[in-house]
Amino acid sequence: MEKQEILRWLRTTGEDRLSRLWQMADQARRRHVGQDVHLRGLIEISNHCSRRCGYCGLNVHNSSIGRYRMTDDEIVACAHQASALGYGTVVMQAGEDPGIGKQWMHDLIRRIKRETDLAVTLSLGERPDEELCSWFDAGADRYLLRFETSRRSLYDSIHPPLAGTMSDRIALLRRLKLFGYEIGSGVMIGIPGQTYDDLATDILLFKELDLDMIGVGPFIPHQATPLGRPDQVAYAVPAEQVPNSEEMTYKVIALSRLLCLRANIPSTTALATINSESGRELGLSRGANVVMPNVTPGAYRALYEIYPSKACVDETAADFGSGLVRRIRSMGRTIGRGRGDSPNLSGRKSRTSEVLP
Ligand code: 5AD
Repeated sequence: MEKQEILRWLRTTGEDRLSRLWQMADQARRRHVGQDVHLRGLIEISNHCSRRCGYCGLNVHNSSIGRYRMTDDEIVACAHQASALGYGTVVMQAGEDPGIGKQWMHDLIRRIKRETDLAVTLSLGERPDEELCSWFDAGADRYLLRFETSRRSLYDSIHPPLAGTMSDRIALLRRLKLFGYEIGSGVMIGIPGQTYDDLATDILLFKELDLDMIGVGPFIPHQATPLGRPDQVAYAVPAEQVPNSEEMTYKVIALSRLLCLRANIPSTTALATINSESGRELGLSRGANVVMPNVTPGAYRALYEIYPSKACVDETAADFGSGLVRRIRSMGRTIGRGRGDSPNLSGRKSRTSEVLP
């Protein structure tokens, strides 16, 4: 699909016309990744963060949230719970937390790999190559790092780098792939200043990067952040500004599926947050094939407030899991068994020792 066609779909309105897009995406999903919905247990291991991203409630300047870092025993207990619930993967996510040390994380990954059959996905922000390689060697399989926007000037305006560093997530994603990880990325939809042209370029970049996983969700303003204060925000001109709407999110999921046929695409929590009734199911019927149930202990989960009113903060992992499985089956879909690796992956595993300087 060319950029012009992507742009046309992004600007298309009306359920009649859009139902064609939903249909094409659903068909492509069925043909290329099948009926299985893979479940990934999400563990939010720490909400400490040293960065100042303009949209995220975990940013270091937000003094209104209590900070926590889970212990290794607590995290391993969650991994066992995910395994007992039948999930094939755990995703360990955190802010960019300097308190997560290289060796500590290495030992934790080894322990989870030793004690369970789970695939391990990391989502720990921009970390030094040396740490990323060490964690791959410990057994980590996948890494998630959204590039958020492919336009450098917009990226820079919302991602102040750490002192003395340069932030280039797109370059980092390419290296992560060389190190041997399955890589996942994505963007927020409707960031103030994001234009239709930007978003079409983002979607084309998903394909160019040959992503194994693509996670997208609507931007949700958080009032304890600079982008959550409407008077301070620089929108694009109205005809160009992408709305942070539910419909636009489905369009991006559907187009991502049509461009990246074999990618694993979650129906994200942000989508379930703006439509708690049916957001998750609609995502799954418009291109997505993955759900990431939260298995973080409730007391911590409430503190992992990247944006306000996050879905499912109050439900226990077991209750949510059983309700979810029922809803997925009633859509005529099946629950994925095993690790649910990317179908792109076969033959691409490389050794970190071959690529490290
Ligand atoms: N609204 C929506 N998504 C957000 N994220 C962070 N803050 C927000 C927000 N205010 C997303 C980012 C990040 C992921 C973990 O959560 O895309 O990469």
